[in-house]
Parts: sequence; C-alpha cells; structure tokens
Amino acid sequence: MKAAILTLSDKGAAGARVDESGPALAAWLAEKGVSTARSLIIPDDVETIIATLAEWADSDLADLILTTGGTGVSPRDVTPEATQRVAERLIPGIGELMRLKSLEKTPMASLSRAMAAIRSRTLIINLPGSPKAALENLEAAWPVIPHAVEKIRGDERDCAGRFDR
Ligand code: MTE
Repeated sequence: MKAAILTLSDKGAAGARVDESGPALAAWLAEKGVSTARSLIIPDDVETIIATLAEWADSDLADLILTTGGTGVSPRDVTPEATQRVAERLIPGIGELMRLKSLEKTPMASLSRAMAAIRSRTLIINLPGSPKAALENLEAAWPVIPHAVEKIRGDERDCAGRFDR
C-alpha cells in the first residue's frame, strides 16, 4: 500500500511552525510497511485543498491519502468541507470509528469533524492536526484501512467469514 500525506496548516505553510504531524504519520505508516509517495504542507484554503486532493486522487499517486489538520471548529478549519467537495462517495463509518475510539481518550474528540471519502480509486481520510491526535485517530481507523483499500481497488472476494471474531 502507498500513502500520501497532506498537512493543512496556515502557519506550517508559511514556515512559522514545523510540521510534526506529517513526519509522525509517515513514520507510523512505515512501521506497517506502507510507503509515503508524497508529503506536502498547504494553507487552510478550501480551493487549494480541493485542487490538491483531486490531483493526487485522479493521478493515482497513492491508495490512501491522509490529511492532517483543519478538522475542528475554528473559522479556518475547512478540511472536511474540501473533502466532501472532492468526494465521489463518503464512508461515514470511518469518522464514527475514529471518534468512538478517540472519545475514550478525550471528550474533545467530539470537536473533530473528520470525514473519510472515496475519489477515483483512492481512500481519503481526515485526521486532526496535533501529532498525538493524528496518530490516535490513525490507530483507531487502521483495522479497517487495508480492507477498505482492497475493496476500493476492486477486490471482489466475499467478506463472509473473513472478519468474524
Ligand atoms: N482525537 C484524539 N484521539 N485525541 C485528541 O487529542 N484532540 C481534539 C480532536 N480529536 C484530539 C482528538 C481536538 S482538541 C480538536 S480541536 C479536534 O480534534 C480538531 O483538531 P484539528 O482542528 O487540529 O483538526
């Protein structure tokens, strides 16, 4: 599996803050055997986010695009809106799973509006911006990600019995 990581941060894009979340996510993925094809920091601008997500998904850069940042409730937090606008299909359950697991750690998890979506053959998942929150959310979603990627890429195998516990 190949990933691409998009960090949304006005300060990070302006060079006023070091992006710790992007590298932390890439390191976490590398431990799972997932390489990172591209990492980029851009400002919290809805049109720039849309253009980047659409270009990455439509060029088949990666199986999985992780965004980090901009999922909250401040005026510049627009990542879920951008994701919704590039989405061909939404996967509400991945956001629900991340919030369910994250609420065990902090009630602030309810403030993340993170979404998951499919565009072309790419799974896009929003994660919050702090390294701790981004990793906790990725860890929560990870159990379903490889199977979701397989299915998005056209795997027609029957799920029956494969995931029973
Ligand atoms: N989820 C987990 N697992 N751990 C956290 O520390 N922080 C929350 C939430 N989700 C948090 C979390 C906080 S404080 C906010 S404001 C929202 O994510 C949105 O973060 P963002 O605006 O950086 O995307």
